[in-house]
Amino acid sequence: MYRIVRKKILNPSVVMMDIEAPYVAKKAQAGQFIILRADEDGERIPLTVAGYNREEGTVKIIFQTVGASTMKLGALNEGDSIPDFAGPLGRATETEGLKKVAVVGGGVGCAIALPIAEKLHEEGCEVHSIIGFRNRDLLILEDEFKVCSNKLVIVTDDGSYGEKGVVTAPLKALMDSGEKYDRIIAIGPLVMMKFVVETARPYNIPTVVSMNPIMIDGTGMCGGCRLTVGGKTKFACVDGPEFDGYLVDFDEAMQRGSMYHEHEAKEREKACNLFRQN
Ligand SMILES: Cc1cc2nc3c(=O)[nH]c(=O)nc-3n(C[C@H](O)[C@H](O)[C@H](O)COP(=O)(O)OP(=O)(O)OC[C@H]3O[C@@H](n4cnc5c(N)ncnc54)[C@H](O)[C@@H]3O)c2cc1C
Ligand code: FES
Repeated sequence: MYRIVRKKILNPSVVMMDIEAPYVAKKAQAGQFIILRADEDGERIPLTVAGYNREEGTVKIIFQTVGASTMKLGALNEGDSIPDFAGPLGRATETEGLKKVAVVGGGVGCAIALPIAEKLHEEGCEVHSIIGFRNRDLLILEDEFKVCSNKLVIVTDDGSYGEKGVVTAPLKALMDSGEKYDRIIAIGPLVMMKFVVETARPYNIPTVVSMNPIMIDGTGMCGGCRLTVGGKTKFACVDGPEFDGYLVDFDEAMQRGSMYHEHEAKEREKACNLFRQN
């Protein structure tokens, strides 16, 4: 069993937990993920390693409670345990040789972007972070990004905090002002990553995106997480989750991502009713 050592509510729908998992903590690197189950009958939930403490043997996860399984997980408390916590899975972010990088995060994608920004910062890279949220109430990790960013731009859709608008506007403004990035790393909703790629394309800056399709086994066996990248089939769990954004077929990924919406809505309703009865 894997104990929840710490739990913190970051905003009304985002929770941070430190999980005691010494073997995962020993090997985890930025960009990798784990698959957990909240209880014995639970679905597998892939979540990115948002941080780790090798001495303490803990791994940090930050997740949005979007449906039945993440609601179950979010209802657990410090001292509770979960039955499965497998990883680290996937490939670590490649940071070697990078001198200046724009890290672009959207919503809970900022939780995935943070350890990458931290790693780049530790390695002496100049990090410009642009993080976007729908509104001020959903803002997370501002202090953490301040520590690891040479420049931090915060945007909200409604202008309730930071600049009003979406992440692509400050990214374009920075590139227009002459900032020359070795790489852009974008993590967030598919549509956001697609538009970051389109913004970067005229400037010809290599752009990496982190893909999070439906995953089942996380080991390349089931085919659930397949994507088309550069006209070839790739599995996000073993070939990714990071890919060259210029090559990803975003439209296909969006279509596949919406396949289970009806079923997910039913499960979410069941979970909500369960919590209401308790
Ligand atoms: C590699 C990877 C890393 C991820 N990292 C994070 C993270 O750090 N923080 C975070 O909040 N979310 C992360 N996610 C998404 C997270 O796994 C889903 O939000 C979660 O599984 C939703 O489950 P649910 O039952 O609560 O919601 P559901 O109602 O079942 O689904 C809601 C939405 O979540 C996604 N989803 C559902 N099941 C899966 C699954 N088995 N695999 C992938 N996506 C699924 C789908 O887009 C779906 O429409 C990651 C996904 C992947 C693949
Ligand atoms: S999750 Fe099964 S192949 Fe990737």
